[in-house]
Amino acid sequence: MKVLILETADTAQERVVSLIAQTMRDKPNAVLGLATGGTMLPVYEKLVALNKSGGPSFRDVTTFNLDEYVGLGPDHPQSYRSYMNDVLFGKVDINLQRTHLPRGDARNPEDEALRYEAAIAQCGGLDLQLLGLGHNGHIGFNEPTSSLKSRTRIKTLTKETRDANSRYFRADETIPTFAITMGVGTILDARHCLLLATGTQKADAVAAMIEGPLAAVCPASALQLHPKATIVIDMAAAAKLKLLDYYLHVHPDGTAREIV
Ligand code: PGA
Repeated sequence: MKVLILETADTAQERVVSLIAQTMRDKPNAVLGLATGGTMLPVYEKLVALNKSGGPSFRDVTTFNLDEYVGLGPDHPQSYRSYMNDVLFGKVDINLQRTHLPRGDARNPEDEALRYEAAIAQCGGLDLQLLGLGHNGHIGFNEPTSSLKSRTRIKTLTKETRDANSRYFRADETIPTFAITMGVGTILDARHCLLLATGTQKADAVAAMIEGPLAAVCPASALQLHPKATIVIDMAAAAKLKLLDYYLHVHPDGTAREIV
């Protein structure tokens, strides 16, 4: 696990964008796993700006998002399909046919989860999986006590997650109870996992993920098993790490120290 600690949220986002761009330069037809949530909004904003100013092209890129709410069709304003179209897909040179999210309005959500898992495999698996981190340690919608070997399936959202995401819904709207999410095992199969967490409100989850025991109660701790996991955090999110000085010594300013 590489722990890259940047001074501010802004510089942490920039680091994540440069790692995504690097993947796209190395492999123009990369398969990218994408995430939603508030943390990712500035990442996509910066990625769009980079794409518009001559950065790497999305033309041959394929994407798979982590999750979608059960019950929301792609046109629903709070669906993650709408989020992705609004903040990224509609603003870059991507082929929409190659952008994938689970269908929240599928007649049989369980079958849809299986179809989605198979579609990822058919594309050769994920080159890079971008991840946010829930306050409760979830990745995707893998809530605490999710099996660390789980595949794409239906999960029941916790009250905490529904409360955290209620800010995106109107007062008269019901917040979905279920989601289709890639499993922890699906995420761990990505060739590179890249997680971004910023702000003091994520400090406990960050500490549990990096330094806590490997435990289903903190699904993000499964990244401890991944051979290539990069965790990018700002100083605020790093506040509860016991080995903070060590991480800063290994990667000063989030960079790779030269081996001398
Ligand atoms: P947030 O969500 O970026 O809105 O905090 C992260 C997550 O729940 O994965």
